[in-house]
Amino acid sequence: MISIENVQKSFKNNEVLKDISIQIEDGEIYGIIGQSGAGKSTLLRCINGLESYDQGSITVDGNLINIRDKKSLRLQQKKMGMIFQSFNLLERLDVYQNVALPMKFWGIPANTPQAKEKILKLIRLVGLEEKMHQKPRELSGGQKQRVAIARALVLDPEILLCDEATSALDPEITKGILALLQKINKEMGITIVVVTHQMEVVKQICQRVAFLNHGKVLAVGKPEQLFVWPKEKEIRDFLREESDKLPSSGVNLKLFFFGEGNQRPIVTQMSQELQTDFNICWARLEDFREDVYGSLVLNMQEKDLERACAFLDSRNVTWEVISK
Ligand SMILES: Nc1ncnc2c1ncn2[C@@H]1O[C@H](COP(=O)(O)OP(=O)(O)O)[C@@H](O)[C@H]1O
Ligand SMILES: [Mg+2]
Repeated sequence: MISIENVQKSFKNNEVLKDISIQIEDGEIYGIIGQSGAGKSTLLRCINGLESYDQGSITVDGNLINIRDKKSLRLQQKKMGMIFQSFNLLERLDVYQNVALPMKFWGIPANTPQAKEKILKLIRLVGLEEKMHQKPRELSGGQKQRVAIARALVLDPEILLCDEATSALDPEITKGILALLQKINKEMGITIVVVTHQMEVVKQICQRVAFLNHGKVLAVGKPEQLFVWPKEKEIRDFLREESDKLPSSGVNLKLFFFGEGNQRPIVTQMSQELQTDFNICWARLEDFREDVYGSLVLNMQEKDLERACAFLDSRNVTWEVISK
């Protein structure tokens, strides 16, 4: 649905997008994650034509996004709703009027029975029917983002672009907003592109994710493929992996558990069978949408390593020696 091919963009001499290629499928929740300054917002703005790019192509439903072709761009932009970290609501308008605003902007009458019904339906969808006639200043951050979501949906977009939509919200409120985005994706079939620097967001809702680093796509895949066992140093650094906190003596062995593996008493069995002790120095259990992934670092004596690895192989446990 969104096809980004070899896109390059510079601001003056600063190359901020370098040969970016990403394919986003119809109906997907797709994440773009990376540190601040990686180029995420610029890429998102190129997708909906708020920003131009210098080389390559971006197409939406097969139509080229070309900022110079104003007429075609307007039609493409109508397909894409967008929400931001800062909500961008108009203070002088109430919730209902804010949601209706894009209709006014596009010259669509907002006072027909159908239009009113649609606006009300969206306000109910985001759970704000009680706040309908309040002004933004009377709402919490989470409620403001809900208004922005309803507003982004009022022209029936196929795609919802989210730029750091939960970055200003606390974790509990974030969960509610992410659940709402999932609902919108599932029930309305809207493709969602989520730009964020927050791992939690990607883990909770994204089916696929691209990791952006200094304007380059470093890795693409399911969040669990990228982040449970990251091979790229840049991704480890981004996750602030455990390696700097591990003991410097002995060997550090990292174990990975997927699904049912989480419930097996592997470590105590290994200790009994090998007749030796290990130090558990780091462990983590993580949710990726519905699956749980675990990882664990054992510190052991060099002499036990070979037998430990053989034991783990015999139990089909994935392992890796962490290099110093
Ligand atoms: N309008 C602009 N003019 C010049 N430089 C910009 C502009 N917008 C963004 N940049 C630069 O582009 C780089 C990427 O920015 P941005 O896309 O906002 O990153 P992210 O959203 O990942 O934090 C940064 O170095 C930023 O300073
Ligand atoms: Mg940004």
